[in-house]
Amino acid sequence: MEIITAVKGFKDILPPETDKWRHIENTAYNVFRTFGFSEICIPLIEKTELFRRGIGESTDIVEKEMYTFLDRGEESLTLRPEATASVIRAYLEHTLHAVESVTRLFTIGPMFRRERPQKGRYRQFYQIDVEILGPDDPRTDAELILMLMHFLDRLGLKNLTLEINSLGCDECRPTFREAIVQFLRGTEKELCEDCRRRIGTNPLRVFDCKVEKCGEIISQAPRLMDFVCVDCREHFTQVEDRLTLFAIPYTVNAKMVRGLDYYTRTTFEVKTESLGAQNAILGGGRYDHLVRDLGGPDISGIGFAIGMERLAALIPDKEKNPADSPFLFIAAIGDKAVDKAFFLSNRLRMRGIRVETDYSGRSLKSQMKRADKLKSSFVLIIGEREVSENRALFRNMHTSSQEEIGLDKLEETIMKIAR
Ligand code: HAM
Repeated sequence: MEIITAVKGFKDILPPETDKWRHIENTAYNVFRTFGFSEICIPLIEKTELFRRGIGESTDIVEKEMYTFLDRGEESLTLRPEATASVIRAYLEHTLHAVESVTRLFTIGPMFRRERPQKGRYRQFYQIDVEILGPDDPRTDAELILMLMHFLDRLGLKNLTLEINSLGCDECRPTFREAIVQFLRGTEKELCEDCRRRIGTNPLRVFDCKVEKCGEIISQAPRLMDFVCVDCREHFTQVEDRLTLFAIPYTVNAKMVRGLDYYTRTTFEVKTESLGAQNAILGGGRYDHLVRDLGGPDISGIGFAIGMERLAALIPDKEKNPADSPFLFIAAIGDKAVDKAFFLSNRLRMRGIRVETDYSGRSLKSQMKRADKLKSSFVLIIGEREVSENRALFRNMHTSSQEEIGLDKLEETIMKIAR
């Protein structure tokens, strides 16, 4: 019979890759906690309306990438394509804004977007998502970026480029929008079909078009940075000054518009040269109206999300950690000995000792081979005779020395050495 394979764009994360993921998550957990963040767990499924309103009707995500379905015909539900809208939904639903004036949250988990799968782009992918809800002080922007860069540094990542931009506010963005629409109307015939449509729906999205001809035209387009108002300019300068204070290298990318509609003012991405086309390992920015747009009070927010698969791809596979090897391997020959191995190995595991054994009754030679391969520190060899005499051979695999040991004393001896 044929095996059933995973759905296209959905992939398994296997060991030892999972160890790397655990390491990333632990590092994230430690760094974020020091910066005052708490973990939040949110559902994988939300009402479709949340993402329509949160992310924006005319974004690629909402227009064509969401996994939306009717729940047995009752209600339109969607597998979350990102976490920000859900975090804010939870923040409002549980009135977390009444608890503290600044709320710092992070969450790690899978997101779903029906994009065309390729290297670094999947239909189910994991994000480390971080959000700060509270006042719009530029120090918050700088602090968040600072923490992010510190986290990447803790993971030992080099050669990353931090790009920042300001997307302006409700005051200045309409003027820019007008200017860009005017510019695009003048070159409309040369633009691709998508970009022509975007003039009417979401003109800023043209900056993200991958069609070469559009790219050439758009490189001549007006820049958002030249339109930002005095307040937005000041906010941006304040962020820049604080990044400089901490010697964080960055470049200003005036063409960065981000793929979600909720952003205002500071936006940022971190890119790498080593991943080919999917070079953005994370993206984020400020959203000063999203909380209000989702029915809440006038509270600002800023956050980012890191693509876990892309981040993990940048971290070299670790040498096998000696702590991952068993402390003891019990090689047992004969049914009674295997039973003894079952008993001893599980007793020791319950006391925190990593033990491997083998119930297959394979030859001593092949069991010793396996102990060697697993890099076990010690091996206990038990045969039928040893069981009846209540003793076994205890071998130190590093020094190759061995001695007889009473099985009654085994637990105590192991606990003493392991300490
Ligand atoms: P985003 O730019 O859509 O932002 O996604 C953030 C990161 O998720 C990307 O930079 C990328 O590393 C990863 N990613 C996105 N799509 C895929 C995919 N199909 N396959 C693999 N990785 C992918 C957001 O999602 C915002 N919610 C970020 C944010 C949080 N802004 C404010 N707060």
